[in-house]
Parts: sequence; structure tokens; C-alpha cells
Amino acid sequence: MQKNAVQTIAEPVMDGFDKALLETGGLPEYLEKNYWWAYLHPSTMPFFEQQWVINSILWGNYARLRDVTLAEMGKTICGRTLQIACVYGNLTSKLAQRLHPQARLDVVDVAPIQLKNLARKVSGDNIYLECQDAAELKFDDNSFDQVLLFFLLHELPANARKEAASEALRVLRPGGKLIFIDYHKPAWMHPHRYLMPLIFRTLEPFALDLWRTEIVDWITAECPPHSIEKKTYFGGLYQKVVIVK
Ligand SMILES: C[S@@+](CC[C@H](N)C(=O)[O-])C[C@H]1O[C@@H](n2cnc3c(N)ncnc32)[C@H](O)[C@@H]1O
Repeated sequence: MQKNAVQTIAEPVMDGFDKALLETGGLPEYLEKNYWWAYLHPSTMPFFEQQWVINSILWGNYARLRDVTLAEMGKTICGRTLQIACVYGNLTSKLAQRLHPQARLDVVDVAPIQLKNLARKVSGDNIYLECQDAAELKFDDNSFDQVLLFFLLHELPANARKEAASEALRVLRPGGKLIFIDYHKPAWMHPHRYLMPLIFRTLEPFALDLWRTEIVDWITAECPPHSIEKKTYFGGLYQKVVIVK
């Protein structure tokens, strides 16, 4: 993977987001090669932003998985929260609505165009968008009360995935919550068990790794987490893993 010298955007998000903050030193090779059509091309983004499209991609489960995520974070979100990677749809704006007035949300993404798109959906002087690589976060250890990765891991090649999972735990404070929502291997009688590999092989070349390995096994940490809880949804095609550090 090509490493980046990305610029950090450590400013509260602003209307229009027309600051000269969106330069980047380069994007990871896997992103440009495999996902340019989904995340990097300005003409396809309005298509993917439509609720029915993202909901169809998740076989009708977008709202459910979004709400599971929000419920895990609480009705009122206090402290400092990090969302690693932008997502299409209204997850982040709903998350932002739950922030306590003194709380803060940081969202990082390696693609400036995604941050610019997100800036159209969220606003507030306690929301910060920053251009960073999940595999190499620039935050200090133990900085966040909650960290969220919503369907990021399956898009990353093995090395980047390990680094991103470990970085997420590193920046979480002891006692804080790390939430992963992603794909999972469904039950043997589930029709998607046979259909999804065809889709993954065509469009998501690293996603089947999520079927073979537990998310927690990608985390390298000096201290084992305090607790790990896993729950699956839609016959096992999706999983939520919550780690308390
Ligand atoms: C979270 S994933 C998939 C989300 C899901 N398909 C959706 O949109 O609902 C997509 C995002 O991950 C970002 N991304 C990919 N690799 C990354 C990395 N190494 N660091 C930070 N962001 C990354 C992409 O730029 C994109 O915005």
C-alpha cells in the first residue's frame, strides 16, 4: 500500500467547507484501484448518497444497522467520539444530533472528496473533519471515549485492516467503547452465503476476509481489551463487535 502524507483538517466543519483544507499527498492504492467508482468520483457520489441505494446495497438493512450503531453510542453522546471513515446516508448527521453540547465528534477519512461531501451533511462547532489514514492515525493514545468504524474493515487489504483496527484501539481511552459494524459469514442455509462471494469477488476484493477471521483477531494490543461482545444480524450477514478497552 502506498503511504500518504495527508493534510490534517483540524477545524470545526463549516458551511460549504470551501477552505483550502482538502489537499492530500495521495490516496491508498487499493482505494484508487478498487473503489474509485464508489468513493472518489464526483459524478457517482450523488447516486450513492440516495437512501434507497445504500439501503439496497445492504439488502434493506441500512436503517437497522445505523440504529443499532446509534443505540450502542447512547441517546446522548458525551465526551469525544471518533468516526473512522465517512459513510453515505444519514448515520453521521443522526450521530451529530445526539451529541451533548459539550461533546465533540471527529470524523476522519483518507479521501478529501468524501470529507467535502460529509461537510454538506453535518454542521456544528463541535464537529471536526480531518483528512487522515485509518492505518496511521495522528491522534494521541487514549484520546477518545468512543470510536466507530462502520463498514470500513471489509474494504481494506489485510495489512491496512490490521493497522486500522489496532489504531482504533490505541486512540481509545481505557474504559472507552470501540464499535465495528461490518460483514460477517452468514448461516449455511442463508442464500447470501452463496450470492455474496460472487459480488465480493467482483466489487469488494478483500471483503471475504471478514468471513474467515474474527475482527478482534486483527487487533494487536499490548493489553487485552476489558470486554468483547459480538452480535450478528440478518441471518449472520452483518455483525456488530463492541470492544471495551
Ligand atoms: C466506511 S467505507 C464504506 C461505507 C459504506 N459502504 C457506506 O458508505 O455506507 C467508505 C469510506 O472509507 C474511506 N476509506 C477507505 N480507506 C480508508 C483509510 N485507509 N483511511 C480512512 N478512510 C478510508 C473511503 O474514502 C470512504 O469514504
